[in-house]
Formats: sequence, structure tokens, C-alpha cells
Amino acid sequence: MKRKLLALTVIATTMVASQAALAGADGDTIAYTCNGCHGTDGVSKGAAPSLKGMPADYHTKALKAFKAGSRPSTIMGRIAKGYDDKELEAVAKYYEALK
Ligand code: HEC
Repeated sequence: MKRKLLALTVIATTMVASQAALAGADGDTIAYTCNGCHGTDGVSKGAAPSLKGMPADYHTKALKAFKAGSRPSTIMGRIAKGYDDKELEAVAKYYEALK
């Protein structure tokens, strides 16, 4: 019983630590999660549009509109809600800088 409790405490602590690591994450860290759909380095081979080189201004506006629900989307609204404005700006800047 004590062992189980200890194991659960360790798991819970690890989860809190990794969430804290993600909060306020750099643009490149966030982009890692985007690239699953938008392609390696934001070069898409599938249905999601490419993000590489996208002007940060346009990109940030698009993400905020998805988050606010003013731009219709299948999935992006839900994804954008997971980040604060600073993080959305950081990831947009990351993709703009990719050459
Ligand atoms: C599960 C797949 C998926 C993930 C993960 C994902 N996207 Fe998207 N993205 C899409 C799809 C699909 C669209 C088209 C709009 C829609 O239907 O949601 C899109 C559209 C966009 C657009 C609009 C592009 C344009 O030309 O206007 C931007 C910007 C964008 N995504 C950025 C991101 C960023 C930044 C992340 C990571 C935080 C991300 N996406 C994560 C699937 C994804």
C-alpha cells in the first residue's frame, strides 16, 4: 500500500513538473507539437497547411482568431486554446524565422 502511494506521488510530481516545463515554453518547443500535423519544420506533406516562413503577424492573428472562435476550424480552435498569447506569438516568430 505504501509502495503504491509512493509510486503515485512520483507520477503526480513528474506530471506537474512537465506541465511547468511546458508553461511559457519557447517557440521551438511548442512547434514540436505542431509539426506532427504541419510537417517537419512546418513543411506539410498532408492536409494541414505549411507554416514555414509564414509572416509572424499573419500567423499570430490566425492563431488568436482560432482561439477566439472567430475563424472557423476543425481542430485549430481547440489547439490554440491550450496556449496563452505570449506562447502563440513565440511559435509564430519561430516559424517566420525558418528559412
Ligand atoms: C492535429 C493536427 C494539427 C496540429 C497538432 C496543429 N495544427 Fe494547425 N492546422 C491544422 C488544420 C487541419 C488546419 C486547417 C484549419 C482547421 O481545420 O483547423 C490548420 C491550420 C493552421 C493555421 C492556418 C494557416 C493559414 O494558412 O492560415 C495555422 C497558422 C496553424 N494551423 C498553426 C498551428 C500551430 C502554431 C500549431 C501548434 C501550436 C498547430 N497549428 C498544430 C492541423 C493541426
